[in-house]
Amino acid sequence: MLPPTSFPKNEIKILLLENVHPSADELFGAEGFQIDRVNGALKEDELVERVKDVHVIGIRSKTRITARVLDEARRLLSVGAFCIGTNQVDLVHANSRGVPVFNAPFSNTRSVAEMVIAETIILSRQLFDRSREVHDGTWKKLATNCHEIRGKTLGIIGYGHIGRQVGVLAEMVGMHVLFYDIAARLPMGNNRSMPGLHDLLAVSDFVTLHVPETPQTRLMIGAAELARMKPSACLLNASRGTVVDLEALAEAIKEKRLAGAAVDVYPEEPESNSDGFSSVLRGLPNVVLTPHIGGSTEEAQEAIGREVAGALVKFVNSGATTGAVNFPQLELPQARNTHRVLNIHRNVPGVIRDITGIISDRGANIHAQMLATDPAIGYLVMDLDQSLSHEVKKAVAALETSIKTRILY
Ligand code: NAI
Repeated sequence: MLPPTSFPKNEIKILLLENVHPSADELFGAEGFQIDRVNGALKEDELVERVKDVHVIGIRSKTRITARVLDEARRLLSVGAFCIGTNQVDLVHANSRGVPVFNAPFSNTRSVAEMVIAETIILSRQLFDRSREVHDGTWKKLATNCHEIRGKTLGIIGYGHIGRQVGVLAEMVGMHVLFYDIAARLPMGNNRSMPGLHDLLAVSDFVTLHVPETPQTRLMIGAAELARMKPSACLLNASRGTVVDLEALAEAIKEKRLAGAAVDVYPEEPESNSDGFSSVLRGLPNVVLTPHIGGSTEEAQEAIGREVAGALVKFVNSGATTGAVNFPQLELPQARNTHRVLNIHRNVPGVIRDITGIISDRGANIHAQMLATDPAIGYLVMDLDQSLSHEVKKAVAALETSIKTRILY
């Protein structure tokens, strides 16, 4: 009789730390995986004790997955970072141990886009200034310099996931949408691409930034760019704090060369809610300052739970690594009546020759095969005849170059 193939699902152990959203449990539960939860983050020593027989670790931003943790977690298949950033994980070491790390880069796209639309209206009507005055007991009813956003032009810099979503929503409230991106992007709806940044700045009533942090985007909006904008225009930045020169922005607002700004991200941000905050923008008129909350909604948290858990389930069940941040990307549809052998190996000459030798020596037939590599490792997925798959898996796993080998179905 053939031995059982995939490792039994009800013996797959998932360790979730830092209150990962319960939406993740639904997906793991449906698979029959065992779920163990720890409320907060764990220190390295405690974590090392907890991970010894764990197959998947789910964390948020505070748990550090160090080389030692990865070395001690001998059965670890994958790490899920239920957040956007992954610098709390030793990604290079995880890669060398054959452990893909997944995160949720797009789950909060909509949340950021909605906040940006709200802020265009808030700035256009000077709502926060009026609100502050009424709180302070001042009644200053006026219409001068207050506008509808309908018919106004929104210029989007960086037309990626968030920029596009902003463009779609802005058209729904009647705005004209222009965008500028360094990559060729398909315009959504009636959004229009602009050939250059300065052209966009000159004609927009609102300019919103949705670029990543790169050497090219660092201080991409400084005094010269602000000078290109209309004095009646407003600037919004919910991308990264290094993109805008805040001194230049503060000067432009004070000198009435710009009508307002909404800023969610700063070059330096406090570590925690108990730390204070200072900025040259504090106290300026029609300037909305928020504490990096563009993506912070319950819906985004729930979506993060589903997105990361979904990627982890797919990796455990089929070996798909699409979206992994530190790993060769690969996804192969399941061939019928086969077993799947997954092999992660050191990327050195001769590995594929050795594996091909193992297969041809046994006369096994490969139904489908896919290889993806990075400089350090190779990831090979093979769908083979069921009769010989176990033998092949054993021989491939025994190769000195193999890091991890699994068999599925
Ligand atoms: P994305 O990668 O989907 O899109 C970024 C776009 O910017 C791409 O189309 C890219 O080609 C373009 N780009 C890159 N360099 C450029 C340049 N020099 N000039 C013009 N365009 C350029 O990223 P996504 O998901 O849309 O995120 C955008 C930004 O929003 C990121 O910086 C991210 O960190 C930030 N973000 C902020 C949040 C908050 O809470 N405020 C939450 C989520 C993301």
